[in-house]
Amino acid sequence: MAKFDFSKRDSFGSKFGVIAAAAGSAVGLGNIWRFPYIAGENGGGAFILVYLLFILAIGIPVMLSEFTIGRSAQRNVFGSFKKLAPRTHWYLIGVLGVVAAFIILSFYSTVASWTMEYIYKAAADAFSGKSSDQLTSMFQGFKGGTFRPIMWQVVFMFLTAWIVVSGVKRGIEKYARILMPVLLLLIIILDVRAVTLAGAQEGLEFLFKPDFSKLNTNSILQALGQAFFSLSIGMGTLVTYGSYINKRENLTNTAISVSAADTIIAILAGVAIFPAVFAFGIEPNAGPDLIFRTLPNIFQQIPGGYFFALLFFILLGVAALTSSISVLEVVVAYFTEELGILRKPATILAAATITALGVLSTMSWGVLKDVSLFNQNIFDLLDFTASSILLPIGGLFIVIFVGWYLGKDYTRKELSSEGLFKVKLINVFILIVKFLAPLAIALVFLNGIGLLKF
Ligand code: PHE
Repeated sequence: MAKFDFSKRDSFGSKFGVIAAAAGSAVGLGNIWRFPYIAGENGGGAFILVYLLFILAIGIPVMLSEFTIGRSAQRNVFGSFKKLAPRTHWYLIGVLGVVAAFIILSFYSTVASWTMEYIYKAAADAFSGKSSDQLTSMFQGFKGGTFRPIMWQVVFMFLTAWIVVSGVKRGIEKYARILMPVLLLLIIILDVRAVTLAGAQEGLEFLFKPDFSKLNTNSILQALGQAFFSLSIGMGTLVTYGSYINKRENLTNTAISVSAADTIIAILAGVAIFPAVFAFGIEPNAGPDLIFRTLPNIFQQIPGGYFFALLFFILLGVAALTSSISVLEVVVAYFTEELGILRKPATILAAATITALGVLSTMSWGVLKDVSLFNQNIFDLLDFTASSILLPIGGLFIVIFVGWYLGKDYTRKELSSEGLFKVKLINVFILIVKFLAPLAIALVFLNGIGLLKF
């Protein structure tokens, strides 16, 4: 097999392109599908406060660590650790990242498949005139089927591969630059509609009025897990994207902008959903099916509902797509740079194997509904393995690597772009990545695997 020519390595072409691509990775189903239902299950406002704290104190430092590793090494996640720490076992973090990418994208594409079906349903005006029960059985009937969920999953994976195959600048960056502003616009339109609903007040109060009595230790740890998933950290997605960032770009500002965009979109998603949930008397803790079962209900009861439903599910699909390309890129960068496979066959190979695993996940409520382990179906198992095990372990070792292996001087040099920028809070940053973040992440992990129960 041909050796990869590193002198021809692709990269992002502009500052806005970097932010759009990285924010595109971060903003996804995690913000619009997962954040509202997790916040809903954990009482709303107080949970969100804790979540914000974690984004600030832990999420941004972990993201910055990933950018530092990737940009200084200019390699895929596996190659980055090989290059920065030769003759050590740190490359195992890279192996973990590639494995996590396979797993995350396989269950992510399941939810993306539901999204595609709902874009279609919205376009076909399939929600109108249906009762809440009918809409629920509509969703469950679809989810438990075979042909349609698989078909949409294949379509979604095809779209993902199609963008990735075109490369970093002409694929990922180009699409992110267009899709991210569209996404922001769509969500703002939905927010305006949501807050002007009669009864919106209650939903906004639920979202923003902290009720600390609803908060237990478990929800605090869930907030940390959600911060990880939502920021795309812990598996080398942002090591990979960081490796495409120009040496003259300010990494600290990039990490802050991306985290801010991710957080703002999550809150805006909450603002789009909860006023409607309350206005129509739906339980805020409806769980993972929340948006698919409740929103069609809501859309058909509001003026212009056809339009807003279509808009919403397109929004969700766009958000999912700009995230899934970042996960696929982790694998493709590894295949091309380490195994010497050309970009096109590498993308096809990665997408095809992930789709195969993804089909098993998608069948978790259909033909494979009886397959379970530890009382979890395939989808839940993949989600649990990735979110509760692999991301925390990855994140833990990434900050330890930056804090203890690369160290302060090396990190300062990279973050300052060799002295181009002032790095003001380097001591705080090092303190966090050496001690605070590893400790906090360890707590999430131990809770996640049940070794530690609060
Ligand atoms: N951050 C993405 C989302 O919120 C999901 C994701 C996780 C993407 C991990 C890449 C890596 O939907």
